[in-house]
Amino acid sequence: MNPFQSPIGTHDVLAPESALWEGLVATFAQYAYRFGFTLVLTPMFEEVGVFNRGIGEDSEVATKEMYVFQDRGERTYALRPEGTASVVRAFVQHQPTTPYKGWYVTPAFRYERPQAGRYRQHHQLGVEALGSDDPALDVEVIALAARFYRALGLTRVRLLINSMGHDECRGRYVDVLRGHLEEHREQLCDEHQRTWSHNPLRVLDCKKEPCVSVTDDGPSLPDFLCADCASHFASVRRGLDQLGIESVLEPRLVRGFDYYTRTTFEFVADALGNAQNAIGGGGRYDGLVEQLGGRPTPGIGFGSGIERLLLARAAEDVTSPLINRTIDVFVVDTTGEDVATALVDELRAAGYAVERGFDGRSMRSQMKLADRSGARAALLVGPQELAAGQITIRDLRSDDFEQAQQRVARENIVGALREHLNK
Ligand code: HAM
Repeated sequence: MNPFQSPIGTHDVLAPESALWEGLVATFAQYAYRFGFTLVLTPMFEEVGVFNRGIGEDSEVATKEMYVFQDRGERTYALRPEGTASVVRAFVQHQPTTPYKGWYVTPAFRYERPQAGRYRQHHQLGVEALGSDDPALDVEVIALAARFYRALGLTRVRLLINSMGHDECRGRYVDVLRGHLEEHREQLCDEHQRTWSHNPLRVLDCKKEPCVSVTDDGPSLPDFLCADCASHFASVRRGLDQLGIESVLEPRLVRGFDYYTRTTFEFVADALGNAQNAIGGGGRYDGLVEQLGGRPTPGIGFGSGIERLLLARAAEDVTSPLINRTIDVFVVDTTGEDVATALVDELRAAGYAVERGFDGRSMRSQMKLADRSGARAALLVGPQELAAGQITIRDLRSDDFEQAQQRVARENIVGALREHLNK
């Protein structure tokens, strides 16, 4: 056994799987760009207060899952458990003009019980849009996610949506919910028998059967929305309808962080079964900028787990590669004269993806590598070719040996190869 393995709940990604990651990120970057988002990069760790204040000190992630540590200067930091709080901290610090629209790709760290689709380091693609409470922006953010999932080839995806209202209407709802939970507190799960009163909304998020049935019979959040929040929510749903994006009202959808207000949403992949089927989620957080020390500024965004997107694609049997990462040509050089070095450089400069043999291996061994590389053609340079100033192009996809070989002059190699590959 090797002395070291990747830490529990983490994984290494090597080719060919890594090409899917690259394709996913490239596709997301392209969609984000189309929707007017620019890339934002923030540190992987922040003062712990950014997350405690941002996602809520009492949230499950902050209390049980955050990787908190002291550095050598005795400052208390946390590895980022999600992307939103960091981007909002950066927004408050740099005050870009609004509306500000940033996209990111980032690892996120949560000390969870690892299982399929749930990891201690996962990776999110996400966006945050700050500075407007226009429902059209909610529609845009949700549409970006929906269009992106479709571009990945996912078809069995449902959009669940809810509105959590603003402080006041949500406050009224929480009071009534608290009363309901008090009446049924003995039926709640062990954890929520202890904590229901402190944060009743967390009980709605609980997946355990007793909590689900108690809250199912309780008050429903959308019934408590004030006129403004109700009309905002109606506009968002109308906008989605207009784009042909179907949304299902899910009154229990309050999500796990304290910063959410008004629109909340989650995309679930039905191909994934029930446990880890959320491939993306997000919502508005109109109080978060203020919470992190900025001027009151509304915001909305979402994050989507790369691992879960790939699991969903696999579960739906989607095999399109998203990006081509196979090489075009393999150079086999048996002259011992360093011919390959200049040749691969010239081919790469002409735009081809080129690999070559090293270590003076035999023709046979280099041909094996060429076959394994997935290249369409091999360029062979042996003593005969060297003496004649020529190169042999061999097609690696053809079984007909005669047809598959062609000798061309060294100086014409780029043109001849282009012609060969276009055949
Ligand atoms: P979240 O729902 O906690 O929201 O995470 C977003 C997505 O990340 C989930 O839908 C899921 O696909 C993936 N994910 C979360 N935890 C794990 C895990 N342990 N293992 C694998 N995948 C995971 C947020 O993080 C918010 N920051 C989203 C947001 C952005 N809201 C507003 N703006």
